[in-house]
Amino acid sequence: MGINTKLLHDYPVVDPYTGASSIPKYQTSTFSQQHLSDPDQDFTYTRFGNPTIEALEKAFCSLEDSTYALSYASGMAAISNVLMLLKSGDHIILPIEVYGGTCQFSTCVLPQYGIDVSFVDMSSIEKIEKEITPETKMIYIETPSNPLLKVTDIKKVCDLAKAHDLLVVADNTFMTSLYQQPLKLGVDIVVESITKFINGHSDVLGGLVATNNKDIYEKLQLFQKNFGGILGVEDAWLTLRGMKTLGLRMKQSINNAEQIADFLSTHKNIKTVYYPTLRTHTGSEIHQQQAKSGGAVLSFELVSEDKIDVFLEKLTLPILAVSLGGVESILSHPATMSHACLCDEERAAQGVSNTLFRLSCGIEDAEDLLADLAQALEI
Ligand SMILES: Cc1ncc(COP(=O)(O)O)c(C=O)c1O
Repeated sequence: MGINTKLLHDYPVVDPYTGASSIPKYQTSTFSQQHLSDPDQDFTYTRFGNPTIEALEKAFCSLEDSTYALSYASGMAAISNVLMLLKSGDHIILPIEVYGGTCQFSTCVLPQYGIDVSFVDMSSIEKIEKEITPETKMIYIETPSNPLLKVTDIKKVCDLAKAHDLLVVADNTFMTSLYQQPLKLGVDIVVESITKFINGHSDVLGGLVATNNKDIYEKLQLFQKNFGGILGVEDAWLTLRGMKTLGLRMKQSINNAEQIADFLSTHKNIKTVYYPTLRTHTGSEIHQQQAKSGGAVLSFELVSEDKIDVFLEKLTLPILAVSLGGVESILSHPATMSHACLCDEERAAQGVSNTLFRLSCGIEDAEDLLADLAQALEI
């Protein structure tokens, strides 16, 4: 079944209770019980299960090609639940440029539970291997990374992890499983912020976890119930609706990103373009082996800082904001947004300069985005 058909048919799309052709919003916290302890009653309390949320989780299993999937109130709720699989005394290895929220959770929360954390440059397998200790239990990857789209070889990390009996977790938010399938490459757990491409309309916060490992699923199910960070019913419904066009949206956004990356690559006012399928991009060969496209996010540096204000004043279509993956193009300035909490030296070490911008391409017409960028770059 092709992906667009899957997104419309390969999970409960018709309500089993009423026949409604859109799964209704079962906006209820509790469910009336006819008998005490009725084993045939599907739902009792929404934190333990709800028909709208269950339909979405089945849709995630189809999307991710996974046996199990869980939904959460945000990408961070999904990620923090997964990281809490670690126990006191354990050690985890993460990318230096891991998403800011994951970095904060790993540096401010995990150590409180006796969990040791290392950050490494994940473009080098040798560097990852050097960090492994007898206490290491998990390697966490994010590829391509934010905001410089650095590439990690998923299969090589998984081979290394298997040799040391470690779990591998992949944040697949940028590519989604439509364009990169980490579970198929040996990753144990995939996490994604559904706030981004999966819902795609910048109107929901949510997260998902997908795995084929029953033991991990059951532990996470217990955590989900007890930490309580479930996805709200309304947001589950909005995501079910948004997801149906994921294939079409991503195709258009990626097409825009490819054209914009090419256009910016030769522009006199652009110093560097970061986009994983550009021939000049480090790791582009690895990326093309493990992913089906460069995705819809690219970053670029202006030639000088004194051009920033005019560029932003002249640009009309992309909204200036944090986040990515919406139908509208979103321009972010990492130095003052996602990476503002780092000091100048830390930002420099990660390659985040003041002239760096990240563009999440929306589904506007390519010619309009290109014309807008062209006129804004006449500075
Ligand atoms: C790569 C990545 N992972 C995780 C998250 C966290 O997702 P959320 O904001 O839904 O908690 C983000 C948010 O920007 C992200 O970019």
